[in-house]
Amino acid sequence: MENFTYYNPTRILFGRGQENGVGAEVAKYSRRILLHFGGGSIKASGLYDRVVASLADAGVDWVELGGVLPNPRLGLVLEGARLCREHHLDFILAVGGGSVIDSAKAIAMAAVDDGDVWDFFAGKRDVTRALPVATILTIPAAGSESSTASVITKEDGWVKRGYNHELLYPKFSILNPELCFTLPAFQVACGAADIMSHLMERYFTNVRNVAFMDRMLEATMKTVIAQAPKVLANPTDYDAWSELMWAGTVAHNNLLDTGRIGDWGSHDIEHEISGIYDVAHGAGLAVVFPAWMKHVLHNDLDRFVQWAVRVWNVELNVYDREGTARAGIAALEAFFHRIGLATTLTTLGVGTDRIDEMADKCTEGDSRIIGNFVRLDTAQVKTILKLAA
Ligand code: NZQ
Ligand code: ZN
Repeated sequence: MENFTYYNPTRILFGRGQENGVGAEVAKYSRRILLHFGGGSIKASGLYDRVVASLADAGVDWVELGGVLPNPRLGLVLEGARLCREHHLDFILAVGGGSVIDSAKAIAMAAVDDGDVWDFFAGKRDVTRALPVATILTIPAAGSESSTASVITKEDGWVKRGYNHELLYPKFSILNPELCFTLPAFQVACGAADIMSHLMERYFTNVRNVAFMDRMLEATMKTVIAQAPKVLANPTDYDAWSELMWAGTVAHNNLLDTGRIGDWGSHDIEHEISGIYDVAHGAGLAVVFPAWMKHVLHNDLDRFVQWAVRVWNVELNVYDREGTARAGIAALEAFFHRIGLATTLTTLGVGTDRIDEMADKCTEGDSRIIGNFVRLDTAQVKTILKLAA
């Protein structure tokens, strides 16, 4: 096991009705906030009305900025930062999914920075200050509600990049599984694929003697595999949503990273697809991950066999370990199909004519390292995208 520091300061307020207390929670930090949200789901569900009533009751003033798109854009981030400066807002409440939360985190950096906020995403410098952010989560997926990351798309060139810093941990996140009842089935499936991917990115490591975290990761994957079909069959199944929602947070709050080095190559490759084609992140991952697995299988066949047997209940064939591992990958693909996702670029509706461009952008002309389990160069990224086609 590797040395590690584990720190996650996000307070989680979980369960029915928790959003009705958001005003009092916010008032512990600020009386003038930016209220940030997406394209309208929170108004349709009535959540918006409950949030503003709670803010008003607690004496918190707010300025609103809605309109965050999935794969959130830099343009709106700059608009949010301008609003924060102009109205002297010193706290951001994000109500929505990963896109809204990531946009809020980027605004939090941009609002108190004199330079170009894209510098952080481009890896040119590190943030030293950010406004505090809190969230009300409406979809279990990205894990941004308790992560250090923000992922933003720059419209100029359609470059999608993530930035990680401890200053981006939300102060608190409210998780009420009832808020997920209104999710469209496709978004549920994308969220489940993203959670699975966060677990698999961590699972495939070259670090030895990480058995405890292996078991935690396997248990969390099995939870997603069991609960996602339940919420798809019955969108108001509170108990199943509770399991899935908490799994989504734990999958990405850095606990399951401890002592190991995850891969993250599939995420980097997927960001090129959603950056250019604007597909849902989880839908892109359902295509990339199986292809990545087929490409890197032989780096550590034993680990793939362990995953197939323990997570997918594949019967171990000691005379055909590769077959056992491949049966695990087939089970992953079957799971994605079962919840309604495509596992090839073509069925996702993404063209194959820009594979060279995506591979080159991903590695930035072989100047950026992609993946840790296996280090990928441009040629290998291209191979994976072709396998995914
Ligand atoms: O915009 P609204 O109207 O709210 O609709 C959203 C959106 O269209 C809808 N939705 C969300 N909650 C709903 C709902 N509709 C009905 N009822 C509800 N309760 O769902 C759509 C997708 O929302 P989005 O926020 O885009 O989804 P998700 O949470 O999957 O976030 C995806 C983004 O997160 C990034 C991805 O790259 C992508 O840009 N990621 C962020 C990470 C992080 N910060 O740690 C890590 C991840 O790996 C990921 O890269
Ligand atoms: Zn993800």
